[in-house]
Amino acid sequence: MRTQVGIIGAGPAGLLLSRLLTLQGIDNVVLENRSREYVEARIRAGILEQHTVDTLTEVGLGDRLHREGLEHHGIYLQHPGTRHKLDFPELCGRTVWVYGQTEVTKDLIKAQLDGGPPLLFEVSDVIPEDVDSDSPRIRFTDADGNPQVLECDAVAGTDGFHGPSRAVVQQGPTGRTWERTYPYAWLGILADAAPATDELIYAWHPEGFALYSMRSPKVSRLYLQVDPSEKIEDWSDDRIWDNLATRFALDGWELTTGTVTEKSILPMRSFVSAPMRRGRLFLAGDAGHIVPPTGAKGLNLAVADVTLLAQALVRLLQEKQNDLVDSYSDRALARVWRCTHFSWFMTSMLHRSGDDFDAEMQLSQLRRVCSSEAAARELAENYTGLPIE
Ligand code: APR
Ligand code: PHB
Repeated sequence: MRTQVGIIGAGPAGLLLSRLLTLQGIDNVVLENRSREYVEARIRAGILEQHTVDTLTEVGLGDRLHREGLEHHGIYLQHPGTRHKLDFPELCGRTVWVYGQTEVTKDLIKAQLDGGPPLLFEVSDVIPEDVDSDSPRIRFTDADGNPQVLECDAVAGTDGFHGPSRAVVQQGPTGRTWERTYPYAWLGILADAAPATDELIYAWHPEGFALYSMRSPKVSRLYLQVDPSEKIEDWSDDRIWDNLATRFALDGWELTTGTVTEKSILPMRSFVSAPMRRGRLFLAGDAGHIVPPTGAKGLNLAVADVTLLAQALVRLLQEKQNDLVDSYSDRALARVWRCTHFSWFMTSMLHRSGDDFDAEMQLSQLRRVCSSEAAARELAENYTGLPIE
């Protein structure tokens, strides 16, 4: 088999890259080790920045998003006694959309299987080879158990945090990683409960952070800060609702409860791997970096990476110019570090460490963001997404 770009991983990064390349006339093949059902059922974050919405719309995937997604004009920041709205259009002229990553993935897969380039599920033993040459290849075993070789001009490693691509890039001469594991985790639930708020609520509380998000007018997505050693079995639905009610409490406001349809505990870490390129192998999305979920940057960063990568690959393969592939890693990493800082800032401002000095610093920062237009604008610009440069 031969193609121009071999793409490893059918998460949002790989699928969107495939679509961007296809629209520019570049052949590609996507290889995914899980099944379609598994990929479409994974529950992930749900906030799309303005540029993510614009990109999905430009590639013809905006219909269901605009029909079923919810446009949000701000967020609430809460600490006991106060719930303050940051108005994004007023502060920075942009908005965000609530539309689950699961839905983005389904839309991308549907478009791909409807006349798009090959998307092979349930492949195994995927390994990129000879990436320092101009003719790399991907070896893999197909769903029927037959060994295959995909010859390529370039390979995209969009295989998430656990995929094989990052290690190959790290074996190059300048590989380096940075990591921060936070002493917090999020217990997340999906509930059949109409959201009791028009905008997301980020709540600081002495007992720990809580986030009120949503997926639709009938489904709420809620998170509680818990210790990373907590076991989900110890959290009955009643215990979760009681904790949520305490942390979101505000005079005149009521939490609406409903049937919990999913619950899990997520670890929180920041991780950056540089460079994002070795020869003809390019990393994008979670393969190159992880952010903690506070601020919902993960998916948006993946979209920004593949936007840059698609432009760079088109220039390389159609115009035979190396300039954009040569600058890809530095340009992508500049945004990665901005989002790494922002999600670290949101995480640090909102989670209880147990230290009372830290708590006063956090409350002072929250009061500042809620009272200074300059401080609020800084948060709003980062939250809604800086332009892709
Ligand atoms: N071979 C083929 N595919 C693989 C392999 C492998 N060895 N290892 C992993 N994959 C696949 C995964 O099954 C997954 O479908 O690569 C895909 C990577 O997708 P994601 O983990 O979703 O990562 P990405 O596409 O970069 O999306 C960015 O945003 O909200 C965040 O972390 C969240 O998924 C999210 C991300
Ligand atoms: C979500 O809806 O899953 C979500 C929303 C906002 C965040 C993180 C996660 O900051």
